[in-house]
Amino acid sequence: MYNGDFFQSSLRGQQRVEAKSQVLPGISSFFFHLRPRHYPAGSIQFSNTLYLGFFTALFLAVEVVTGILLMVYYTPTPASAYQSVQALALVPFGQLLRDLHRLGGDLLVLSAFLHMVRVAISGSYKGPRRFTWLTGSVLFFLVLALAFSGYLLPWDQLSYWAVTVGTGLFGALPGIGSWLLEILRGGPEIGAGGLLRFYVLHVVLLPVAVLPLLAVHYYRVARLHGISPPICTAARRNSDNLRTVSLWPTVAVRELQLTLLTLFLLIAIVAFAYDAPLGEPANPLRTPSHIEAPWFFLWAQGLLGICPATLPALVLIITPGLLLLLLPWYDRRQRRPFGQRPWFALALLVSLCLLLVLTFLGARIQQPISHSPETLLDALVPVDGHGPLHTLAYDELTLGVHTVGSVRTDTKISSGLEQLLTFIDSRLRGAAESQRFSESSSVLIIETIQPEVKRITLRQSVRLKDSTAARTFERTVYRHGFGETSLLSGAKK
Ligand code: HEM
Repeated sequence: MYNGDFFQSSLRGQQRVEAKSQVLPGISSFFFHLRPRHYPAGSIQFSNTLYLGFFTALFLAVEVVTGILLMVYYTPTPASAYQSVQALALVPFGQLLRDLHRLGGDLLVLSAFLHMVRVAISGSYKGPRRFTWLTGSVLFFLVLALAFSGYLLPWDQLSYWAVTVGTGLFGALPGIGSWLLEILRGGPEIGAGGLLRFYVLHVVLLPVAVLPLLAVHYYRVARLHGISPPICTAARRNSDNLRTVSLWPTVAVRELQLTLLTLFLLIAIVAFAYDAPLGEPANPLRTPSHIEAPWFFLWAQGLLGICPATLPALVLIITPGLLLLLLPWYDRRQRRPFGQRPWFALALLVSLCLLLVLTFLGARIQQPISHSPETLLDALVPVDGHGPLHTLAYDELTLGVHTVGSVRTDTKISSGLEQLLTFIDSRLRGAAESQRFSESSSVLIIETIQPEVKRITLRQSVRLKDSTAARTFERTVYRHGFGETSLLSGAKK
């Protein structure tokens, strides 16, 4: 079934030729270490691989080049990230670079996925190529992680809330959930720490993990086992798998042509027909009406729509990944033709249909955001930095005990405070709608503790859905009249 013998003897022949190479020996031996000098004609014909591995590598290269250029302008802080992305429009070719990076990323995910499906259909993961499949699967997960981490960087409402919901899933993992969430978000909610973490993941850690894996993947395909011959017998007969095609000029010129054509099309699309999306700037205090996961995770959003319990949904999301990773170890038969593997064909077809249906559902289902009382308090009265309470002038903080959500008839309270109470009420209602609380009530207590110093306490009393006892959460900030800054903030339960 597999043409390893042919490939190894072709390799030996090639090494003899390389040793004799008189033309630019240094350069040629370097390139011929990277690429075999001869390929079996059948294996590299277009219909065998659809060049999907090649396209995946090409889009990865596009991402690396455009990503490095974008790093020159991007600032990974909540205060500047959005503006730095917006300002790209003013830089020569800045918008083009951003569009290329965004579209290239989407195409990278798509081509890696299609490459995987092609390998699965042709049964090329079997036999000696099991480990190649394993490295490929891990590469695929890393590509998804790269795309997801990059999604947050423009710091707009859509990306902020999609990543909030996406990372929130990890919180459901028993034992390590809250720890993992804290590590990913850099706090209870995504803020400066979270953005920096995603940035470091996107530009350093994940690319550094991809490179060695890609080297191993490529080494196994290019130097160790070669590409599997076509499974279709007619194609094998026609293409005469023992005939070889040389790297130079045939394969190299074909690949160069494909590269130029793809780059030309990509640039033409982003120049005339594609704009990378950028919505409203991220606002952790305003939950948008519609939250949408990135397209490659819409299926997970669809799954959460039909299975709202987070832990079972998380298990359903992780399991296909594991099944994928271990495919060559439980499908051990050497038969490759699709028609001779009816059970596999059926399972693959059902999985692909399921993926499509869930993606379709995910695009239609709005993802609710669940808040814990702690994260709500953190958003309304952040321990570090300024929150909504700091948007009011000192004099607008009318003394008294103000019940959030009650209809006010007294006119003595300032209009700024009135708006703030309405805002807090809307946040609390949002949380109640996300069905975490069965009951909740809040008061905002404003008192003078010494001349020109006010203490403001937000006290929330909530009854969680799964508990009968009410719990009280509160947080306090101090404001003083002369400098208009917070002296100290604290949280206690
Ligand atoms: C960054 C991602 C990836 C890159 C750049 C890449 C690159 C390539 C290239 C250039 C080839 C040879 C030509 C071809 O088959 O199209 C190849 C073959 C292969 N790849 Fe990948 N690949 C990636 C991801 C994956 C994934 C996700 C899988 C599967 C889970 C995978 C499994 C394989 C296997 C088994 C082969 C050998 C195919 C054969 O012998 O017919 N690769 N890869």
